[in-house]
Order: sequence, then C-alpha cells, then structure tokens
Amino acid sequence: MSLAIALFKFGHIAALLVWCAGLIALPIMLAQHQHGDGQARYARVRKFTHYSYTRLVTPAAVIAVGAGIVLIFLRSTFVPWFFAKMAFVGALVVLHALIGGVVIRMGEEKGDVIAPRPFLPVALVIAVIVAILALVLAKPVISPGSAPEWLQSPRNKSLLVEEVPT
Ligand code: HEM
Repeated sequence: MSLAIALFKFGHIAALLVWCAGLIALPIMLAQHQHGDGQARYARVRKFTHYSYTRLVTPAAVIAVGAGIVLIFLRSTFVPWFFAKMAFVGALVVLHALIGGVVIRMGEEKGDVIAPRPFLPVALVIAVIVAILALVLAKPVISPGSAPEWLQSPRNKSLLVEEVPT
C-alpha cells in the first residue's frame, strides 16, 4: 500500500510540475506574437503553443488529476482542507480552459489574433498554485462547521431531473 502511495504521489507531482509550468509558460509564449510579425513567426508561435497545449500540458493535467483521484482513496483525504484544495483546483482548471481558448483563437480565427498581455493570467495561475500548495503542505485543520450554512443542511428541493426509476 505504501509503495502504491509513493508511486501515485510521484506521478501526481511529476505531472503537476509539467501542468503548472505549462500554464505559466503558455501565456508568455502566446504574447510573443506582435502586430506586424511575418507569417513564419506567427506560424511558429501558433504551432509551438498549440502542440504544447494539446500534446504536453493537457495530457499532464489529465495524469495529475487521475493520480490525484487515486490518492484520494489511498490516503482517505475526506477532510475539509482537501475540499478547499479542490475549489482551488477547479479555479486552475478554469484558467487552463481560458488559456486553451486563446490558443484556439490564435489558430482558428481569421486574421491576426493578438493574445492578451501575460501578466494577469500568469499572476492568477501562480496565486492559485500557491494557495493549493499552502493547503496541501500545511493541511490546516478547518472546522466543518465553518462552511456556509447552505452547504451543511438539506435544501429540501426536488431534483431538476426525473428521479432514477427503482
Ligand atoms: C483534481 C486534482 C487533484 C486531486 C484529486 C489531488 C489529490 C491529492 C491527494 C489525495 C493527495 C495526497 C494527500 C496526502 O497524502 O495527504 C495529493 C497530494 C499532493 N497534491 Fe494534489 N490533487 C490534485 C491537484 C493538485 C494540484 C493542482 C496541486 C498543485 C498545484 C497539487 C499538489 C499536491 C502536492 C504537492 C501533494 C503532496 C502533498 C504531501 O504529500 O504532503 N495537487 N493530491
């Protein structure tokens, strides 16, 4: 069991490094394209970012999340700090999708697409990573009672979908 934990944790952290490094590098790489660049330079930035996103950064994200899900069960991390971590991981996934949107626009929209300045996306990615690392390394004791009331009690509302037949 402890060997499995070590292996999955290794895979989780190795994939995380690639994922997080990619999310920091991609906005900077995308911003390398300026108005007036020639077709060859535009194609170079576009291909480099497209292949990095689809062949490296997204597969690394999938491996990191997959190994993390296995670790939940191996380590039984059903505790409040972990749920707070998952909220920040959700934010990282949203940033991943937003950066991917810019990669796609640069490749598929007609004309000369200029990526946003990299400062804001890079700052947001770093802030979310720091928050996740702080939670996962400090594992703070968060009282379950500190969650908002609407998360702690049944809402007594019916489902939006038909109930599953019995
Ligand atoms: C869906 C995504 C993720 C899941 C399900 C997940 C789940 C987990 C679990 C269950 C552990 C084991 C915790 C323990 O041993 O007590 C872990 C460890 C870790 N995770 Fe994640 N994680 C995810 C994403 C991330 C992200 C995005 C980061 C950083 C940016 C991260 C950083 C770490 C680190 C550094 C550890 C090692 C902590 C330690 O051994 O003390 N994880 N993860």
